[in-house]
Order: sequence, then C-alpha cells, then structure tokens
Amino acid sequence: MPRIHNGSASIVAVALACAAPLALLASVNSLVPARTGGFGEMTCHQCHSNNPLNDPAGRLTLAGVPASYTPGQRYLITVSVAHPQLVRAGFQLSTRFESGDNAGMFHPPDDRTEAVPDDAGRIIYMQHTPAGTEVPTPGTGQWTFEWTAPAGDLPIAFHLAANAANGDGLPRGDFIYTATAISVGGP
Ligand code: HEC
Repeated sequence: MPRIHNGSASIVAVALACAAPLALLASVNSLVPARTGGFGEMTCHQCHSNNPLNDPAGRLTLAGVPASYTPGQRYLITVSVAHPQLVRAGFQLSTRFESGDNAGMFHPPDDRTEAVPDDAGRIIYMQHTPAGTEVPTPGTGQWTFEWTAPAGDLPIAFHLAANAANGDGLPRGDFIYTATAISVGGP
C-alpha cells in the first residue's frame, strides 16, 4: 500500500492514494458493505480486479434458498466457492425485496460469519469474518448459516459475491464470482 509521507518522492504515493481511497481503507478485516452486485451495487471485483468475473475454472454455489418461503421459517443456507488456486476465501450476501428493502434475518452460527448493516442501517449483509477466510482444504471455501424468512409474500432476491483468493494478503490475483437466486412468497 502506498503511504503518504514527507519528501519529494511522495508525489506518486499521494496520487495513488487519491485514486484509490477506498482500497486503502478496506481490507479483509473490515469488508465494505454493499458489494454483492445486487441493486446496482459493485462487487468485490471493484478491488479484486485482476481476473475476469466468474472465471470458468471455478464455481460459486448458493444452496438452501427455498423456491418459495414461509414467513418466520428458518432455512439453512450454504455458500461454496471453488477454484484450483483458492487458498483463502470470502463472500457477501444480501436478501432484499424488489423495493430494495431488507428481507429476513441472518444468524451467524460461529466466528466465521457475521451479519453487518450498511452505513444507513437499512440493509444487513451476511459475510465472512477474518477467521472465516481461512479454509480447511485449499480449493474450496464454504460457510453455512441460517436465514429467517420475513413476513409477507413478496419475492425476495438473494445477491451473492464471493472471492476465491490466492492467499497473498493482497487484492491481487483473486477470482471473484457472483450468483443470484429468487425466493417467492406463498406455498
Ligand atoms: C474497496 C476495496 C475492496 C473491496 C470492495 C473488497 N476487498 Fe477484499 N481485500 C481488499 C484489500 C485491500 C485486501 C488486502 C488487505 C487485507 O487482506 O486486509 C483484501 C483482501 C481480501 C481477502 C484475502 C485475499 C488474499 O489473497 O489473501 C479476501 C478473502 C477478501 N478480500 C474478500 C473479499 C470479498 C468476498 C469481497 C466482496 C464481497 C471483497 N473482498 C471486496 C480490498 C477490498
């Protein structure tokens, strides 16, 4: 990361810092909200941009989303991202009505995931924690958690972005994937 310091050699560093203020602040330890790709959001690819989106050598799956949901019921959701070069991994998921309002509630079962509101406190994002970026076996990252369906019967959009990362501790050389699912209301 370029740092701003005194001296004539700092002009390049200052220029870089101005070009990428978000990248300087954000990291795996403090994942920025609203990078799922849904509702006009950017994705992780904003910073992890070396490789094209959805590289065919890897795969992202979102399992457990009910085709139609029952209000108040808890569903077990599993996010899996795989790539031959994956050494660390992360994700971010949102659940919204078509209006853009948050739909339902996430329940992080352990220290590998957390549910974090956006700056306005309107949307809750389910995402990896720093501990949750560690993978037991290279090649696949996986997270399981519960989601409680909201009241009502309007369709809900799931927007997911994930990073199959190469473990270099930088946003470089990582593979970003996106996926979506829809759950409709009523039986
Ligand atoms: C605004 C810039 C930015 C965005 C957006 C961003 N990241 Fe990152 N990410 C970073 C930076 C900078 C690092 C390296 C520093 C660190 O790990 O703290 C990083 C590191 C990581 C790493 C470790 C990479 C490695 O190879 O070791 C993972 C995993 C990760 N991010 C996941 C995500 C996911 C998932 C998203 C999207 C939901 C995301 N990031 C969006 C800036 C960003």
